[in-house]
Amino acid sequence: MFPLNKGITTPQAHVNIPDGLYEEELGRDGFYGPVTHLYHQHPPTGWTRIEGPLKPHAIDGNKITGNPSSADAISSRTPVLFNEDVTLHVCKPGTPMDYYFRNADADEVYFIHRGQGVIETDFGPLQYEPGDYIVLPRGTTYRISPDPDKGKHFFLLIESYSRIRQPDRGMLGQHALYDPGVIKTPTPDLSISAKESRPEWELKIQRQQQLTSVFYPFNPINVVGWKGDLTVWQLNVRDICPVLSHKAHLPPSVHTTFLARGFVICSFLPRPLETAPGAEKVPFYHRNIDYDEVLFYHDGDFFSREGIDTGMFTFHPQGIHHGPHPGAVEASKHKTETNEVAVMVDTQKPLQLSEQAKACEWPGYAMSWQPKTHSK
Ligand SMILES: [Fe+2]
Repeated sequence: MFPLNKGITTPQAHVNIPDGLYEEELGRDGFYGPVTHLYHQHPPTGWTRIEGPLKPHAIDGNKITGNPSSADAISSRTPVLFNEDVTLHVCKPGTPMDYYFRNADADEVYFIHRGQGVIETDFGPLQYEPGDYIVLPRGTTYRISPDPDKGKHFFLLIESYSRIRQPDRGMLGQHALYDPGVIKTPTPDLSISAKESRPEWELKIQRQQQLTSVFYPFNPINVVGWKGDLTVWQLNVRDICPVLSHKAHLPPSVHTTFLARGFVICSFLPRPLETAPGAEKVPFYHRNIDYDEVLFYHDGDFFSREGIDTGMFTFHPQGIHHGPHPGAVEASKHKTETNEVAVMVDTQKPLQLSEQAKACEWPGYAMSWQPKTHSK
């Protein structure tokens, strides 16, 4: 009986969409569950106004200042969006941490948007640079020292209240997405802290969102060896090999980099666009009925999202459509590749915007699918 096929359709989703029609994907469970493609006479984002709380949002993370430049990687954390599974923060350290930190509430994933420096951990130090994901298992003791000569520092921090995992690669094989050999893990090296002499060392532990300071007469990072399969690890987006098809636009789920309870983290990376005749090159319209969708724009040219620049977030709650901006479909016909780098966080439970994020909203975003309304 299934799938059914009624009225005007196309046999292959996202290919040879009949002239003058707009294809929408209505699916369950993200992009994994039952799905129907609807062929509309008008773009689903062609609303004239929205009344009520369900609106697409754009937040300029560049305008979220957090604390003054004297703030460090912990004190500069500013929440942007949150639910009971995950909190997304902007983090703009202007100075090294003068203490060590341990998050006993959450695994942490730092995505380095701007800046370079070093993170010292129980397992050893790691140098970081833009494009790095750094995964810190809950309970890791660490300290971040940004390099002051590397400009402004700007991290996206994803606090996960369950364990961060890697996706099952399934039929792609274990060297798809990225070869495990590109992952970096730290090696104990106490030379950094050996240069410091202090009478007392402070460790701040976060538990139930409260901080406790524990003081030692020695450096709390004094590990000279470790073994096991739980550690800090680092992956740069340039080492990820995007999955694609030249014949049909693949769903965002093929770009999944991390999984946790109630959400996924995906990496959208430079790649060739579809080349087969009739293949759509821009993301299809959809109403993401089971996931809230957040995108953080790291680098490149976001040609399907006019008015969006690096350092910004878009937030599309469950239920209301999104899709390419007017002009993007036409513009895509002449493009052969995308150079965008973006991090997507899709959550099953609804997200809330923080007050700090609301203060940095682009109020015109919900109407930005209308022609000629792209002023911020
Ligand atoms: Fe989407």
